[in-house]
Amino acid sequence: MSGGSDSAIIKYVKDVADSLGQVCAVIGAQWGDEGKGKLIDLLAGEFDVVARACGGANAGHTVIVNGKKHVFHLLPSGALHPNVQVVLGAGMVIDVSTLLEEIEVLKKAGVDILPRLHISAAAHIVTQEHKERDAKIEEERSNKIGTTKRGIGPAYGDKALRVGMRMESNLQSPISNCLVSNIAEFMNDLIKNKKRILIEGAQGVLLDIDHGTYPYVTSSSTTVMGALQGLGLPPKVLHSCIGVAKAYCTRVGEGPFAAEIQGDTANRIRERGGEYGATTGRPRRVGWLSIPDLQYAALLNGFTCWNITKLDVLDEEKMISVEVERGRLGEFPGWQTSTSGITSFEKLPQQAQSYIQFIEEKTGIPALWIGTGPDRRDMIVKSI
Ligand code: IMP
Repeated sequence: MSGGSDSAIIKYVKDVADSLGQVCAVIGAQWGDEGKGKLIDLLAGEFDVVARACGGANAGHTVIVNGKKHVFHLLPSGALHPNVQVVLGAGMVIDVSTLLEEIEVLKKAGVDILPRLHISAAAHIVTQEHKERDAKIEEERSNKIGTTKRGIGPAYGDKALRVGMRMESNLQSPISNCLVSNIAEFMNDLIKNKKRILIEGAQGVLLDIDHGTYPYVTSSSTTVMGALQGLGLPPKVLHSCIGVAKAYCTRVGEGPFAAEIQGDTANRIRERGGEYGATTGRPRRVGWLSIPDLQYAALLNGFTCWNITKLDVLDEEKMISVEVERGRLGEFPGWQTSTSGITSFEKLPQQAQSYIQFIEEKTGIPALWIGTGPDRRDMIVKSI
């Protein structure tokens, strides 16, 4: 597509969104913070329901409400679309006070989300004690994970020990009317009623408790299978799964990161990309894109296409490295031209086109969405 007006991109997204089918999942392919929120924001208006399935307030995405920036941790990024039903699935661990705060922020901005909020009664509650235990375990252990200290590990731990507290026991708060006793029945009724569902993955595949870089992972399943499980949806209903990856890579917290870089290049990318944790404010570790990681994420999730985000952050780089095979870096000439706000693939500098094509070739998956800036209009949308 060409042109950058809001209405132009919205019209184009409408056409492309049709091809995503009744149920589409958006899944982070790296260590979280891939920029899933922007794609969700663009797509949510085309769906009837936006659903989060797993994780808790360890996630964070910045939303602008009436010109003011807020960071939401529990409500999905698509929640602001006025006609979209919002689901928090059974795989989640919910810090009720954080959720109430987010509801209140929206209320003050004139958005009453309660009538369209549906929370699984089986989701677990994160307590103050969980948060304190999270901080204490982290402090005492030798192989520190660098958790967000949001009580995620202890809450999932209690769940697995079958001593956790579920949302169904939270009957006093304003959200008690939002509780759905059986989320699987609720979600499958939506399917029967031909409603379109957008699943918003949280964190990224490499932080998955089973398939990630254990023990340096979160405590939930961050793959599309985890998302389906958390919502009680059978795999056959899924029509499309978009893998979201930055044009480079970041990681917050400890753990292996083969293509990590330090020094001026890392600092430049961190500053240009605003790579500071939305939940903790921690500077994110920065590195190059890893093809083996993308291949791994793709095989676990069966991605139907990529959304490569933040391409413009690499605009100033003379040389761009990529982990092309495990432990082996290759180099690409940078484009050293601004790609900021470009909305047509053909208008990208040749080197940037080659970079994207290299990712497509090596993973066998088309990059149909390419982010070229923070604004919702800064997106190349390619049709197949
Ligand atoms: P926890 O999920 O707070 O237990 O943290 C475990 C690991 O996952 C730490 O390395 C965190 O930095 C990382 N993590 C958790 N949530 C996110 C996220 O939304 N984005 C990026 N990293 C995350």
